[in-house]
Amino acid sequence: MTVPFYTSTREYAARKDEFDAAVRSVMERGDFILGSEVAEFEREAAAWLGAKYAVGVASGSDALVIAADLLGFRDGAEVLTPTFTFFASTSCVSRLGGKPVLVDLDAETLNMDLRDAERRMSKATKGIIPVHLFLQPTPMQPVMDLARKRGLRVLEDAAEAWGMDCLVDGSWRKAGTVGEIGIYSFFPTKTLGAYGDAGLMVTDDEELYKKIKSYRVHGSSVKYHHDYVGYNSRLDTLQAAILRVKMRTTDAAVAARARHGAHYTERLSRVPGLRLPKILPGGKPVYYVFNIFAPRRDELAAFLKEKGIGTSIYYPIPLHLQKCFQNLGYKKGDFPNAERACGEVLALPIFPELTDDEVDYVCDQIEAFYR
Ligand SMILES: Cc1ncc(COP(=O)(O)O)c(C=O)c1O
Repeated sequence: MTVPFYTSTREYAARKDEFDAAVRSVMERGDFILGSEVAEFEREAAAWLGAKYAVGVASGSDALVIAADLLGFRDGAEVLTPTFTFFASTSCVSRLGGKPVLVDLDAETLNMDLRDAERRMSKATKGIIPVHLFLQPTPMQPVMDLARKRGLRVLEDAAEAWGMDCLVDGSWRKAGTVGEIGIYSFFPTKTLGAYGDAGLMVTDDEELYKKIKSYRVHGSSVKYHHDYVGYNSRLDTLQAAILRVKMRTTDAAVAARARHGAHYTERLSRVPGLRLPKILPGGKPVYYVFNIFAPRRDELAAFLKEKGIGTSIYYPIPLHLQKCFQNLGYKKGDFPNAERACGEVLALPIFPELTDDEVDYVCDQIEAFYR
């Protein structure tokens, strides 16, 4: 048996007619740039998320840069952001001349350690970027409490968090809709994935919404009249059409991932020596990534590869040890939890079309390795 880490081909084969019809309709209309499907998708996404406004952009990475720019995370401003995350959660600040202040992770959940964040604050700290990694959000109640207490602006990196829920001020809200601006990535592997690059920005603030719309087209709201020095970052109409097809089954996709996650958890929590990320009390995990903390991780990954099983490592090197961030002045040992996690985490195949037999096969092979 071979089990790919991820594939889009099963979904496409199962729903070829729907995807082909969606792409064909864009081709027939020829409205490739900010075509009608973009506005439709924005409406559907905002309604599903419970956000007032949603704006499609070219990628999650672009969404982060535009949001960081609008929130003033630039020109020397200090911004709290995790050292254990995808590069773009931090590069958005340095790209604009801001100063990322890196924060260690909570060793059990892999999300940002908020006590460490508070310790690292200074008078120059302007904002915070909570990143919701893998299966559950960074707890947003403490983030918002800290932000209110210390006057921080909040940019939620919900690139991986489509479908995750957070409890804030007594009500459940979708991850990404709590901060001033939230961003999502629709990179193909994501819980809601496009067939190429795509991203979304959400906010409840009308002023920010108007600026986001303008920033994605070179800072203009009327063609060739530029109010701001903006960006060229539009959600591609073909990707919007594909995303609308995927929106029809997005609840089912979230549920299928939860089912596979529960299956893995049930099997793997019995393997001696293996640890799984802790799920916070009351949390309903949405498995974008199913990670294990694996002793002899690299040997296990090689063994699984031999058995035809794809795996991935999110993330092999923490950001404070990346060459391009040497100027931030951190050194090995500064973030012990993150450094340890980078040597232990291994992500297993998880996507809705995976079969139960495949999950069992992956678990059988992990058991065989440790036996
Ligand atoms: C946490 C996080 N932030 C930002 C991004 C960037 O998104 P994109 O790949 O759409 O640029 C990703 C995903 O790739 C991510 O996982």
